[in-house]
Amino acid sequence: MNIDMPIPLNKPLLIGPFSQLLPMSGIRLRGPLQDNEMPVLENAGLMIENGRIHSIGPFDKLRSTTSASQVIHIRLEADCIGLPGFIDAHTHLCFAGSRARDYALRNSGRTYQEISRAGGGIWDTVTQTRNASREELTSGISQRAWRHLCNGVTTLEIKSGYGLSQEEELKMLLAIQDAKASVIADLIPTCLAAHMVPRDFTKGPDVYLKEISDQLFPILKAQNLANRIDAFIEEGAFSPENIRPYFEKARSMGFDLTVHADQFTTGGSEVAVLFGAKSADHLEVSTNREIKLLARSQVIATALPGASMGLGCGFTPARKILDAGGALAIASDHNPGSAPMGDLLTQAAVLGAFEKLTAAEVFAALTVRASAALGLKDRGQFSENCLADLLIFRAAHYHEILYHQGTLKPFQVYKKGALVYENPQMHRYGL
Ligand code: NIG
Ligand code: FE
Repeated sequence: MNIDMPIPLNKPLLIGPFSQLLPMSGIRLRGPLQDNEMPVLENAGLMIENGRIHSIGPFDKLRSTTSASQVIHIRLEADCIGLPGFIDAHTHLCFAGSRARDYALRNSGRTYQEISRAGGGIWDTVTQTRNASREELTSGISQRAWRHLCNGVTTLEIKSGYGLSQEEELKMLLAIQDAKASVIADLIPTCLAAHMVPRDFTKGPDVYLKEISDQLFPILKAQNLANRIDAFIEEGAFSPENIRPYFEKARSMGFDLTVHADQFTTGGSEVAVLFGAKSADHLEVSTNREIKLLARSQVIATALPGASMGLGCGFTPARKILDAGGALAIASDHNPGSAPMGDLLTQAAVLGAFEKLTAAEVFAALTVRASAALGLKDRGQFSENCLADLLIFRAAHYHEILYHQGTLKPFQVYKKGALVYENPQMHRYGL
């Protein structure tokens, strides 16, 4: 379980030499990226002060200009790669129960939508989540977040959406807020009350959404529980027409918007573009029309390969999105239904192999481009004053990381300049 919360170091820290340090800075937000467009610093050092990046440069130079009495030197003895902490910009980590039965049913030929109509799917998790206490939900979040941290995720977005009533959505968002005390990664909450029309609400989708926006939105603002509103635009969930007034209201109150879009049918990405959403996520069935719309907008296209792997369906057309000039992030969508695996690096590496993404495109999608999907400017790159969220992998070349498709885990994880995780297996097996 979680180790004690890190104590911030009061002295500057110099870490190195890295065989390769990938600062992910100075990288454009949109379009394709060749590996040679990504800065790679060899024999580099990283200087951290007050939990933030102070400077990067040749290790020997940084060491000779700082005295050991002023700066703590951390010397890396083996070949190491340094990367900014990963940002998982789309998860449903707050839930109770298992949907292993759905998975087995899908693999015996039933579709996600058929299972949902028969009473399984999202509604099954809603029932189990409503039956869980706020404390149980918080404990589930902490355990899952810890595993993500060990896999290199230092910022985690978490959605509600398995409560589907004001009271139960509030319980989920309070559980996420409570989890901030025990979780090392930064948690970014999102209200997904528009996940599906609750089965026990008889007045229809429009009245449901109106009640949520009139009554729950002001509470979210007043208690600072979420600054982001998400909606699942899909047949069997909400139509673009249902969502328009809901998003109007959210936007007028200053919420950021994001959309579950084009997962099984198109329609959602157009709403995302129309409302200037921060991101449109899923996009498995986006056609050239939607890809063009997204590429011409400011919306970040977030691929969720974990959902394709969980459902056994095609991947988001990530290559086409980049080639059209779009901005691509990759997130895990970790949830009990469509994406139970929750291993972001594995999923990103596999997406890269199927969609022909360069290492630069994959790493940008996990760091600097993912930070834009959450509207965060202080992370995802080693630029001066950004958070010192650092992953150290034991390898001589950054290509080793994706080549191992997620089985080469970080050796060490730093959050805001403090060492928060070290992989014991790396010592045992000397990888
Ligand atoms: O992002 N698509 C809608 N929502 C989730 C799945 C939720 C569930 O099946 O529990 C997703 O895939
Ligand atoms: Fe999702």
